[in-house]
Amino acid sequence: MIMELVVEGGKPTEFKSDALIVAHFEAEKGEKPKTTKSIDALDKRLEGLISASLSSGEFTGKQNQVLLLHTQKMKSPRLILVGLGKPSEFVPDKVRQAAGIGATAARSAGSKSAAFLLDSFEGKTARQELARLIAEGATLSLYEFKKYKMKDEEAKELAKLSILTEGDAKELKAGAETGEILADSANIARDICNGPGNYTTPEALAEKAKEFAKKYGFSCKVLEKKEIEREKMGGLLSVSSGSHQPPVFIVLEYSHGRKAAPIVLIGKGITFDSGGVSIKPSRDMDKMKDDKGGACAVLGAFVAVARMKLPVSIVGLIPATENMPGGSAARPGDIVKSQSGKTIEIITTDAEGRVVLADALSYSARFKPRAIIDLATLTGACVVALGYEASGLMGNDTALLKQLIAAGEKSGERVWRLPTWKEYAEYNKSEVADIKNSGSRGSSEAGTITAAKFLEFFVPEKTPWAHIDIAATVMNDRPKPYFGLGATGVGVRLLAEFLTNSR
Ligand code: BES
Ligand code: MN
Ligand code: ZN
Repeated sequence: MIMELVVEGGKPTEFKSDALIVAHFEAEKGEKPKTTKSIDALDKRLEGLISASLSSGEFTGKQNQVLLLHTQKMKSPRLILVGLGKPSEFVPDKVRQAAGIGATAARSAGSKSAAFLLDSFEGKTARQELARLIAEGATLSLYEFKKYKMKDEEAKELAKLSILTEGDAKELKAGAETGEILADSANIARDICNGPGNYTTPEALAEKAKEFAKKYGFSCKVLEKKEIEREKMGGLLSVSSGSHQPPVFIVLEYSHGRKAAPIVLIGKGITFDSGGVSIKPSRDMDKMKDDKGGACAVLGAFVAVARMKLPVSIVGLIPATENMPGGSAARPGDIVKSQSGKTIEIITTDAEGRVVLADALSYSARFKPRAIIDLATLTGACVVALGYEASGLMGNDTALLKQLIAAGEKSGERVWRLPTWKEYAEYNKSEVADIKNSGSRGSSEAGTITAAKFLEFFVPEKTPWAHIDIAATVMNDRPKPYFGLGATGVGVRLLAEFLTNSR
């Protein structure tokens, strides 16, 4: 993670850092390359270094293009040009992307410090917002998970990032700070999510929650196995029964300003999902340490909300357990009684997420929530439906879903709605219990939707509810412009954006 991020005023040629990062828009079709005023002045001082790269065609400003140049004509020895694409195709997320590409290029070149020339990003976005997007994209892009690398020969660290402007630096501070908080909070979620199953057990997850609650000022209560039994959470107990790790049920609370009915955030916290007795194939099973991504999103969102002191009331609920096979594990065919009193026929022990979420959904009723949002790495079918470009969104309240879609666009964490028509409820009908945990037509037929219909069965009456399936977006196995490999912290920035607008 970055050590330091500052906003500074000054002339780009006089500013001392290891790399100066300058953005450039690509020319529209049929037009000549155009430079901005701030680049023109810089180019002159550099005796045409930038215009030479443009006229030779080596650098066009294409989205995410990057070119590193060396120069002795300014105080920073490296000039890094990054592309913003065509102005007509611009969306704000491209600023995050360009900032991420620039920051990682500076780091791979060995820079210990780098400065973004904010003025070069101008044209399509307000300056405050630019500062926020640059801080966010850069901070996210520099994240690495190195905790368990005892010796790292290639270690490189970019310790200081500046946002540099020739204009008013003060007006940029708030934007940069917001961007940094959002990205730091997402990075906290990524760090926990990347933790391997043997270290990041349910109890370790609870310890992390307590640590961050104390550090940032929200409350955290952890129900241990005894209390989970007292609460009659039959779903959570059934899923955890095959594991030597005891389950926990984490309750977070934050409230600032007027006390209103809270919004409840629920995160699936399966610290490792082997599938249980319905065991998964071993290929890619290692990825199932990310099955706690929903829990990490909720915890990260609490950190962001508390650090931004948003005037909202929120409750976070995290049912956390491993899903393991073993002599005491749940079996296919079992019938378990959930906290709500409703019974569940376990068709497959690999559909465990919805079973633990059922208990969290009924537990939420005591808070009389204004709305419930759950996040879960729930179905492989969601990867099939949407690929890696959006999380699946479902729910019972169109207004709530619309707000989430808007927050998704703004935060760069897109969500896409799938239907939850009542016909789909038929797929979950059980002959012997109130509901079954896998659709009768298998997960290959609307598996993401039938999982949502299962959850809906446990939503407290008349409560607006949204379900976000993050199975695909929780991690990257190929890098993206401002994300390396591994956990993405998905949901943190989405929820923070949603809560910013939900007073
Ligand atoms: N955690 C998995 C879903 C998952 C799959 C997340 C791939 C990320 C990547 C979940 O518990 C699961 O196993 N779901 C089953 C449901 C099925 C058995 C009805 C699935 O998607 O195959
Ligand atoms: Mn599973
Ligand atoms: Zn799972």
